[in-house]
Formats: sequence, structure tokens, C-alpha cells
Amino acid sequence: MGTNGNTNGKQAWSPAGWRSFPVAQVPDYPDKALLQSTEAQLASFPPLVFAGEARKLKRALGKVANGEAFLLQGGDCAESFAEHSANHIRDFFRVFLQMSVVLTFAGRLPVVKVGRIAGQFAKPRSSPVENVGGVELPSYRGDIINGTDFTPEARIPDPRRQVEAYRQSAATLNLVRAFASGGYANLDNAHRWMLGFVKDSPQSGRYNELANRITEALDFMRAIGISAETHIEMQTTDFYTSHEALLLGYEEALTRVDSTTGDWYATSGHMLWIGDRTRQADHGHVEFFRGIKNPVGLKCGPSLDPDGLIRLIDTLNPENEAGRLTLICRFGSDKIGDHLPGLIRAVEREGRKVVWSCDPMHGNTVSLAGYKTRPFDRILSEVRDFFRIHEAEGTYAGGIHLEMTGKDVTECTGGAKAITAEGLADRYDTACDPRLNAEQAIEMAFLVADLVKHEKAARGEGVAAAAE
Ligand code: PEP
Ligand code: CO
Repeated sequence: MGTNGNTNGKQAWSPAGWRSFPVAQVPDYPDKALLQSTEAQLASFPPLVFAGEARKLKRALGKVANGEAFLLQGGDCAESFAEHSANHIRDFFRVFLQMSVVLTFAGRLPVVKVGRIAGQFAKPRSSPVENVGGVELPSYRGDIINGTDFTPEARIPDPRRQVEAYRQSAATLNLVRAFASGGYANLDNAHRWMLGFVKDSPQSGRYNELANRITEALDFMRAIGISAETHIEMQTTDFYTSHEALLLGYEEALTRVDSTTGDWYATSGHMLWIGDRTRQADHGHVEFFRGIKNPVGLKCGPSLDPDGLIRLIDTLNPENEAGRLTLICRFGSDKIGDHLPGLIRAVEREGRKVVWSCDPMHGNTVSLAGYKTRPFDRILSEVRDFFRIHEAEGTYAGGIHLEMTGKDVTECTGGAKAITAEGLADRYDTACDPRLNAEQAIEMAFLVADLVKHEKAARGEGVAAAAE
């Protein structure tokens, strides 16, 4: 074995190659025959996304790597079979569009929009078992693997769930494609994207003011003959899907050769990422990822050291292609200062082209009043430090990765409406990690927009100074 840790990426690779490596976080399916027949069935299904789309996203991320665009990635921690209505998807999509408009306006930069959606079903767990009132059962691992009910039957990994996840992903993708290209994303609708409950929020005044300015700009453009009617591209937006590719059997079944280039692409989503618990250099996940040509993400937590990161970059992006690799940093507000500078320096020293993105969610989870939650202030503190550290190192803070929903949930404390520990019980709906609600997500977009604006001004000065 030992094709891993290679530096030239030329060793033979196949979609099933990961099977001869150790793999962390795999479910133990009792019915192996059913697992095999399900994977064979999935392998016969159509791709969900196309290689050309993944390449387009990679080019867009290449611009982010070069400091010419900003990445907004977000969505549910875990999608759920029970929560699959058109309203749910639309509410997420319009909040996401609002956030992207806020960021575009501040940074005067294109925003690359990537949802954690249409495939985000498999969850790594810190413990293989869960204890409730003295009863121990296997942990819930996401709807693609087992069920949330705390019963022995629900917790048995069931291969048929993979087919359901595929079908739900296809239906979700169909709707978001329609939203993205069917006129809903037209900037003329910027006012209409506001949700009912956000209208009464502290963010609504600020957002409306911005939407008015967009309307003015569009009116001006219309007056000089440029409008969505004459410029079809103004009616549409580029929106991409992403998820953690944890369940490798499912991913393998959907990995196909692209007939245009002869390369392998994962077709379960445009961008896939490796979780913080499955990024061991000599394990199956890294082996699988090195062979697919999609843009990929790597979660970077406190246990990743600079040498380990460079080794992973050697394997995952041997050709040093801008846009191929996004480093999604998730240290925690109390740890980012100790870890991020070392990783940035190693990447700079080795001349590696990456997108630096900040996931301020996963290092800031705490327990309060019996709930897993994330205080808004800690999330914001990690984001601010992320920008500050990049500015000090002379590198580009290129993106943000959030767990968020379009709904009015009460899962993260704080924010302008100051959700309290006692308030968490009101609408705590997540099947997994706590998400920002719609208002908190838009508030975060405004706060990040200020940082992006500052970053742009500081970099502009830096570039001007270097040119003098
Ligand atoms: C996630 O993004 O939901 C997740 C589990 O993240 P991480 O791998 O960074 O813990
Ligand atoms: Co999560």
C-alpha cells in the first residue's frame, strides 16, 4: 500500500482504492449484502452535478485564492429527511442571497456562493455511543446512515437511507437550480427576499437601506439600457452545492469519469470537504479525495500542525492549482491565535495556493441549560481574529463557512435579539449542531462585510505601497 503521503499524485488511483486503507468514522452496516446492492444501484443512477460545473466553481475559487473574490459557504449542520419542504429550502436560499448581497456590496467583490445543501447528510461523531438515562445506544450519524430516535432499531445503519438521501439531494438541487436561474435570484427581488420575521428585526432597516441603493443602481442601469430583460445573466446567479464526503461508499458510487477530460469527478456535489476527524494522511478519506478533480475543502482544527498541513497539501493539491483546495479553519475563539499563524506561515513559505476560509462554528460549541449551543460573541470573535491574523501575515482572508438556517430557530445564544440560555428551549430544532438563525446569519453577514471592506482597503493600500 502506501500510495498516500505521496508528493506527485501520480500513483494509480481508483474510486474504490480507499477501501484498502484504514477509515475513521465508518458505520458498521449489519446487512452487507444490502449495502452492496444499494451501492451498485447508486452507481447506476445519474450524476447529481456535472464536471463542468465543478470546474467552474474551481475557477471561481481560484479568484478567491488570488484575493479577487470572497467565498460564502453555509447551510444546515445536517440536512434531515423530516425537514424537506419547498419553504424550508426557499427560506434558506433567500437568507443566503441576502447575505451574499450584503457582502458583495461591502467588498465590491464577487461572492462565490456555496451551500451546505443537497447532500449534507453524514455526520462524524466524537463518541460512537450516546447515553441517555443509563441507556447506551450507537450515536446518530446523520439521516443517510441511521435515525435520530433513541431506540435500538433507529440507530442501526440502514443502507436504503443512501437511496433516500440521493433522491432528496436531487429534489433539493432541482429547486435551488430553479431559484438560482429562474428569476428568483434577480437583484430586482432584493427587497422581496426579506422574511416576515426578519422584517421586525434590528437588521431589517440596514438591509432595506442597502436594497434601496441596489434598486437605485438598477434604475440607473435600466435608464441607460441595461436591464435583466436585455441581460439574461442578471436574472441568474451561480450557486453551488457542498457537503462533507464522509460516507465513502456513497461517494464512490457517484464518482464518474468526465467524458470531456477523462478525469474522475465526484458528482454528489460540486465541492466536497474532508472533516476534521477524518483527515489522517494515511487513511481512506484523503486517499479518495486525492483522485477526484472537484474543488475540495479540508477542515483544519487545533490538532493539525504546519508539517501535517503541508503533507496533506502535497497529496491533495500536488499541482498547486489555485481554487482546488480551501482550508476551512475551525480552531475556536480561544485557540485561533495559537494555531492559525503557524499554518499560514508554512503555506506561505512553501508557496502553496489555497483559499483561507473561517468556520467559526465548530470550535465554539458549549453546553448551556442542557443544550449544545454557540455564543454569537465567540463566533464573531473567531471571525475577527481570522481577519486580523491574515492582515498581520499579509495574506487574504478569503471566506466564511457557517452553520445557518433560514428559520427562526433558537440554537445559538446572543445576536442583536440576545437569545438567552433559557430561550434556547423555544425553537431548538437542529438534528445535530446549533445553527445561526436567519436574523443572526444576516447580522453576521453585515459584521463580516465590515471586515471584508476593511481588508479590501488595507490590501489596496498595501498593493499601492508595493507599486511605489
Ligand atoms: C461540520 O462541518 O459539520 C463538522 C462536523 O465539522 P468538523 O469536521 O470541522 O468538526
Ligand atoms: Co456541524
